[in-house]
Amino acid sequence: MTVYLVGAGPGDPELLTVRAARLLGAADVVLYDRLVADETLALAPKSAEMIDVGKSPGNSSIQARINEQLVETAVLHPHGVIVRLKGGDPYLFGRGGEEVEALAEAGIDYQVVPGVTSALAAPSAAGIPVTHRDLARSVTIITGHDANDNEPIDWKPFAAMGPHHTLVVMMGARKRGLIARSLIDAGASPDTPVAFIENATTAHQRVVTGVLGNVDALDVHPPVVFVIGAVATLARP
Ligand SMILES: C[S@@+](CC[C@H](N)C(=O)[O-])C[C@H]1O[C@@H](n2cnc3c(N)ncnc32)[C@H](O)[C@@H]1O
Repeated sequence: MTVYLVGAGPGDPELLTVRAARLLGAADVVLYDRLVADETLALAPKSAEMIDVGKSPGNSSIQARINEQLVETAVLHPHGVIVRLKGGDPYLFGRGGEEVEALAEAGIDYQVVPGVTSALAAPSAAGIPVTHRDLARSVTIITGHDANDNEPIDWKPFAAMGPHHTLVVMMGARKRGLIARSLIDAGASPDTPVAFIENATTAHQRVVTGVLGNVDALDVHPPVVFVIGAVATLARP
């Protein structure tokens, strides 16, 4: 028996990989995340069992239950095609690593099907190249989720890299003000360009631009990718 950990891409079903679409079309069971689009789920056969295992932001305590559910499903369907469908790429802030560990511990084979990550697709869809010969020669993808938790992120190294380094912050909508202030306190210029891409690659895509110094005043809603650096000036609304 094999469980397929499949990346669903950033939202637009046309950004699924060919392999993801093929596996989804052959699935007997699909366990899917909160951010997977309905149009993508509709690619599964009508007969497939669809299991919503979506977590809301901040509620990660059910991850252990998801791991158990994956193992239980695999045991129940030894000859079935089991697709664990995860937003973007399964291994970028997707806890895919933990899920495959649980499968491996239970002796269940798995395959990972990489997906188009929103970390890169969202800026692209908004006209922002995360690297650019004149504007940025390096890029960091970071979570904004634990910006004020027990192990706060040290923003100093990123502030020190200046605007010609691109920072892509995931899960950063709620803490955007704190992140911006932390960077400014660490020496980043308040004039550093920023862009927020909401619901990227979907019909509801929205692009909001500003500078680090006015991030609090911007109207931004999750899911959003927060881009910081000179390349953000290239954003298209
Ligand atoms: C738990 S992470 C999962 C990331 C996913 N594995 C990936 O590779 O895109 C969820 C975060 O991804 C970002 N995200 C996912 N889909 C998005 C979309 N369509 N538009 C904007 N941001 C998105 C947001 O920052 C959201 O808070």
